[in-house]
Amino acid sequence: MSLLKDFVVYLCLSPTTLLGAVAFLLVFYLVSNTFTSQEVGKAPPGPRPFPLIGNLLQLDLKKLDVSLWELSKKYGSVFTVYFGTNKVVVLAGYETVKEALVSYAEEFGDRDITPIFYDAHQGHGILFANGESWKEMRRFTLSTLRDFGMGKRLSEHKILEECHHLIKVFESYKGNPFNAAIPINHATSNIISAIVYGSRFEYNDPRFKNMVRRANENVRIAGSASIKLYNMFPRLVRWIKNRQLFLKYSEMNMVDVKEVILHLKETLDPQVCRGLIDCFLIRKQKEEESCVKDTHYHEKNLVSTVTNLFSAGTDTTATTLRWGLLLMAKYPLIQAQVQEELNRVIGSREVQVEDRKNMPYTDAVIHEIQRLANIVPMSIPHKTSRDVTFQGLSIKKGTTVFPLLTSVLHDESKWESPNSFNPSHFLDREGKFIRREAFMVFSAGRRVCLGESLARMELFLFFTSLLQSFRFTPPPGVKEEDLDLTPGVGFILTPSPHELCAVSRKRF
Ligand code: HEM
Repeated sequence: MSLLKDFVVYLCLSPTTLLGAVAFLLVFYLVSNTFTSQEVGKAPPGPRPFPLIGNLLQLDLKKLDVSLWELSKKYGSVFTVYFGTNKVVVLAGYETVKEALVSYAEEFGDRDITPIFYDAHQGHGILFANGESWKEMRRFTLSTLRDFGMGKRLSEHKILEECHHLIKVFESYKGNPFNAAIPINHATSNIISAIVYGSRFEYNDPRFKNMVRRANENVRIAGSASIKLYNMFPRLVRWIKNRQLFLKYSEMNMVDVKEVILHLKETLDPQVCRGLIDCFLIRKQKEEESCVKDTHYHEKNLVSTVTNLFSAGTDTTATTLRWGLLLMAKYPLIQAQVQEELNRVIGSREVQVEDRKNMPYTDAVIHEIQRLANIVPMSIPHKTSRDVTFQGLSIKKGTTVFPLLTSVLHDESKWESPNSFNPSHFLDREGKFIRREAFMVFSAGRRVCLGESLARMELFLFFTSLLQSFRFTPPPGVKEEDLDLTPGVGFILTPSPHELCAVSRKRF
């Protein structure tokens, strides 16, 4: 209903016009009932849509993943909903999501590029791109990230260096309550900076601070109700404030990225790759020299790829870490068990990725944080690349598809206690770590998260280094049970704004 209210406000409708519109919708609804019953029998079922607004009245856009999951209980694991006139097929439950993304990887593997992301990137880069250009950018980025040691020692060194900087910031609060969102975002953003540019930024560098702030703001704006409206009715509501703001921030970040690229270009040594940008520039030069036709190595692809890596790789990891610290403060016994394992396995020396295999409990806790935090609840929308018959239902080429990760990470047939924080989900009877097939936080198939191994390494090293140095508690006067786990609304699910105390463990 709130979306309808927004819509009315945006269009400045008078009560009479509104009444007329409702009467019009009602008549169409009744008429459309006759049409839907005559529709091709094999299309995925779903609630009957109103004309123009589709199923908006049946959905809570602030908790869209939850309301879609509710609908799946009535309409099955493959069903249709209409956002305005846009048809979306929703995939729910582990078996269905896995079958679609893995067994039908080609058919379900295109990205649905919504108008707001098309405006910002025009189909360039990785996140919001398709076809040959996407394939080449994804391949290039993956192999370059591997060369730069994604998931290996080189990134381990960079992450540990960043842990020291972050710990210093936490120490500066001397155990008093503070909001860790910005320092954590700066730390994870610096890991991408080191890989992409070849160097990190100081946390007080004004350009860096602005870039991270704008990228964060855009993640929030992209998930707002008004941007959802714009994506549904792009011609009707082009002028909304949030769209202008989103594009302004994107543009400003791209200008900053272009300046850094220019500087790197001027100091480029073709024999040495300082970071991903250097590798791209060297490749671009080679393709130009050999007159490669229709090369994908052009500036637009470089700028969009770089901004994609920042937006996909900063907020996701930072948000997961924030959920982790919040959950540790809420469940002090679990925090104490992690710290007991840290004391026993590592003591006071620096943590290493190698330690993970000897720390099953901590590994299980990190996995459970990711499962419960469920930060990308509907993945990033996909699109069918061709007509497909899936589970006996026909879905047309170009249909938007939501792989509902919430329904996988809370699938009652896969998790013993899907709605509670229970690290035992990832432990066997002897306390050894076990993988779970329904742990699909990075999605699966052709579009699976490109930064998965980097993110896993970051989460382990940041989380363990922070818990080695600090005990996290609620601010004085706040009880553990009062810490709020309700997520804020945005493109990803973030914890609501909160403060915690980072109490130095050296004092104990
Ligand atoms: C905890 C951290 C992270 C989580 C939970 C996460 C999750 C995801 C998810 C669910 C997707 C969508 C997959 C799909 O479309 O089905 C995705 C895509 C992507 N992620 Fe991550 N991600 C994380 C960290 C990172 C990092 C650190 C990077 C950067 C190196 C990264 C780069 C990307 C890119 C570029 C894509 C787009 C892939 C494509 O469209 O081909 N992510 N991620």
